Amino acid sequence: MRTTSNHILVIFGASGDLTKRKLIPALFDLYKQKLLPTKFAVLGASRTSLTDEEFRDRVVEFLPENEDVAEFRKQLFYQPVSNNQADDFLPLKLRLEALTQQLGIPGNYIFYLSTPPSLYGVIPEFLHENGLSRSEKYFRRLIVEKPFGTNLASAKELNVKLLNYFNEDQIYRIDHYLGKETVQNMLVTRFSNGIFEPLWNHNYIERVEITSAESLGVEGRGGYYDHSGAMRDMVQNHLMQLVGFVAMEPPVVVEANAIRNEITKVFQSLRPFKENMISRHVIRGQYTSSVIKNENVVGYREEPGVDPFSRTETFVALRFYIDNWRWAGVPFYIRTGKKLPTRVTEVVIHFKSVPHHLFGNSSNSINNQLIIRIQPDEGILLKFGMKTPGSGFDVQTVNMDFHYSDLANVTVPSAYERLLLDCMQGDATLYARGDAVEQAWEFVQPIINAWETNPEIPIYGYPAGTWGPENADELMKGANWRYPCKNLTNDGLYCEL
Ligand code: BG6
Repeated sequence: MRTTSNHILVIFGASGDLTKRKLIPALFDLYKQKLLPTKFAVLGASRTSLTDEEFRDRVVEFLPENEDVAEFRKQLFYQPVSNNQADDFLPLKLRLEALTQQLGIPGNYIFYLSTPPSLYGVIPEFLHENGLSRSEKYFRRLIVEKPFGTNLASAKELNVKLLNYFNEDQIYRIDHYLGKETVQNMLVTRFSNGIFEPLWNHNYIERVEITSAESLGVEGRGGYYDHSGAMRDMVQNHLMQLVGFVAMEPPVVVEANAIRNEITKVFQSLRPFKENMISRHVIRGQYTSSVIKNENVVGYREEPGVDPFSRTETFVALRFYIDNWRWAGVPFYIRTGKKLPTRVTEVVIHFKSVPHHLFGNSSNSINNQLIIRIQPDEGILLKFGMKTPGSGFDVQTVNMDFHYSDLANVTVPSAYERLLLDCMQGDATLYARGDAVEQAWEFVQPIINAWETNPEIPIYGYPAGTWGPENADELMKGANWRYPCKNLTNDGLYCEL
């Protein structure tokens, strides 16, 4: 049974958006379910000068107005803190000591870095200088938000810095995709059912396809995104973690390091990209202006904060291979982009067809697909062939499906809710380990380098609201991407699971 010890959660960058949009709502949900420890406080910290009350008013913006919130907000406190030198953290240290005394909380602290990444090295150092990073008696943990580095070199550098002040088992690198219930369910689907795992290899699987589509654009984050692009923003972290879960070997036990060892092994087996392969295996795109539902939509280069000549990709599709025993020769396809027709994230396992087409030609036999829908309408669907009723032996594809929404009285916890609780309980299974983050960077870095240094590698435009450049289809070598949402209705797109 996992327990949550009494502690204080310090959020750096507490006046920012993430705190009120994600962290406080997640903490409130934990509070309502009585999953927070009996003695618990949040200490918000940032440069903005606020009182406790002003901080409370600000961060409960996305909570309902009710008695629960009135009680919950009493656990929120605030300390202004600057970060020019280590001494600037003294008021924070004193405030922590005062709160531990006043509330009877032991000196267990979680430090959450929700600041601009430029402070990811500085804050741990100042915590260390003030004797807050390690303790013989109490736990000290550090949660680091993404992005973890902007390239391989900076990720390595950040790991080295953090490890000067915290041990690896104190560091929790967030990847909110790992907090998604459906991503975790991938392990259960694979390793608790006798029917899937025997088929989960190159003998039976033809290809694996992962799509993470967003209908939103850069939403006011143009300044950040233009220096990032889809490869850094989505592929290096979220989608590579999904690949890890789809492709890993069974872990020895369900425990942080056992699972993370297997993910790292998958990343170590990724076939590296050579420069001359890149334009054939990787397609990048950028959305252009268009009209969606009778409204004019600006192109990426017209977005605020974006360079009008930008060559930053808002779409990426790639084909790659995992050179190990299980996956020899199986192509993996990944596709992600902004301003696509809808928001959907799913993994599609395409099984090979039967060896002999008993019921006529190949068009009368089907390729089974297992579709793991991460979001929205979370669930799993198996497509298989069935006899069309009537004379003859015509085969048609039918679905067997499960939707989380069908489970009575079950609410799927938000990713941040799950991840925060895990950290409070000292479980790092769903956080990325330093070596895996570096391996994932190592995989994407040659692509980023080639794009940055070789202007001949094209970046294709695609009208906002479409499925990205058509060139992405050519990656599939005769097969097609699954287009889950193509039936236009009056309300927009209908997405079948
Ligand atoms: C974030 C990216 O990490 O993930 C965003 O920075 C992206 O650009 C978001 O929109 C997608 O997350 P989700 O949970 O909405 O799929």
